[in-house]
Amino acid sequence: IIPLHMAFLLVSAYLLLTHAQGAPAEHGALLETLKSQVGLFSNKSEHYSAQVRPPGTSRQIPQTIIIGVRKGGTRALLEMLDIHPNIVVAATEVHFFDWDENYVKGIDWYRSLMPFSYGNQITIEKTPGYFTSPQAPGRIHDMNSSIKLLLILRDPTERVISDYTQVYYNRVESHKPVQLFEDIVIKNGALNTKYKAIQRSLYDVHMEKWLKHFSLDQIHIVDGNTLIKDPLPELQKVERFLNLPSRIMSSNFYFNQTKGFYCIRSDGRERCLHESKGRPHPLVNNTVLEQLYSYFREHNAKFYRMVNHSFDWH
Ligand SMILES: *[C@@H]1O[C@H](CO)[C@@H](O)[C@H](O)[C@H]1NC(C)=O
Ligand SMILES: *[C@@H]1O[C@H](CO)[C@@H](O)[C@H](O)[C@H]1NC(C)=O
Ligand SMILES: *[C@@H]1O[C@H](CO)[C@@H](O)[C@H](O)[C@H]1NC(C)=O
Ligand SMILES: *[C@@H]1O[C@H](CO)[C@@H](O)[C@H](O)[C@H]1NC(C)=O
Ligand SMILES: *[C@@H]1O[C@H](CO)[C@@H](O)[C@H](O)[C@H]1NC(C)=O
Repeated sequence: IIPLHMAFLLVSAYLLLTHAQGAPAEHGALLETLKSQVGLFSNKSEHYSAQVRPPGTSRQIPQTIIIGVRKGGTRALLEMLDIHPNIVVAATEVHFFDWDENYVKGIDWYRSLMPFSYGNQITIEKTPGYFTSPQAPGRIHDMNSSIKLLLILRDPTERVISDYTQVYYNRVESHKPVQLFEDIVIKNGALNTKYKAIQRSLYDVHMEKWLKHFSLDQIHIVDGNTLIKDPLPELQKVERFLNLPSRIMSSNFYFNQTKGFYCIRSDGRERCLHESKGRPHPLVNNTVLEQLYSYFREHNAKFYRMVNHSFDWH
């Protein structure tokens, strides 16, 4: 593995050499190889913080955005796509299209948060809040009406519980009082459909807003339940959707028994998702679970018709 700064030294040294010798044409190809190795072998996350622009790169607005859903597996999807040599990813959730105070800063501000990329690379940003934001679809369409969108979804009931779990741990960590899942979800014996986490799982309601601005073939839906169990086939579908050569391989993944899910091996380094991912969920009362399943059933059916695809959700 060539560390990034060393790789640049190599390229620079090579440039000096070829200049001194009056570079013959075929050296151009070797330079390209060296440059691509910089991209391939560097710790990609170093691009994010890089203030010095690597030669031949620029910051691009995303050609693809992961729009959600919160707790659907967006971080896992982004990290896994980052394996691909033709993909660079934004380090943080930018919240450009869903937060007015960021949107008013303009497109140049947005671009300035993107990593440096080569001409053959696609820039991807992920902000899970976009999916449920009323403004995001129109604003993204204004930026690029032919953009390709990725949406990762999982069983809506599971998503509600995962959403609750995240808030639960955040409150525990900041010593705030917590409520039982059942006490939030059930109010006066009935399902509390005003609960934000339940609202976010109404995929048909949110999808309808996106389909007002984008055609279905611009939105690729990743099955979050499948991605966690068996990442490769889902990622290969994304590669095809993005018209990228197939570069992500089974050797890029290894199963971590302790964590109970896959970790990533690429560029000679290994990384697992942050500890906050894959936290154990509370055991939810069966009656309450059934209430949730039956509430979502009709919405799911509507969603399947809308996207012309079924999922094996409850
Ligand atoms: C990758 O870069 C990040 C940020 O510079 C650093 O924290 C991390 O330790 C690096 N990982 C490896 C394996 O070099
Ligand atoms: C818009 O998105 C499409 C699809 O990703 C991409 O090919 C095109 O370059 C993008 N246009 C701009 C201006 O970024
Ligand atoms: C597997 O996960 C555990 C628990 O998070 C972690 O301590 C360990 O380093 C991981 N092992 C590998 C090989 O990634
Ligand atoms: C589950 O909740 C229902 C009311 O919603 C209650 O009647 C039942 O006793 C609960 N079951 C358990 C095992 O707590
Ligand atoms: C729906 O999907 C089927 C097969 O999956 C396909 O043959 C059909 O053309 C699709 N319809 C629309 C409207 O996309």
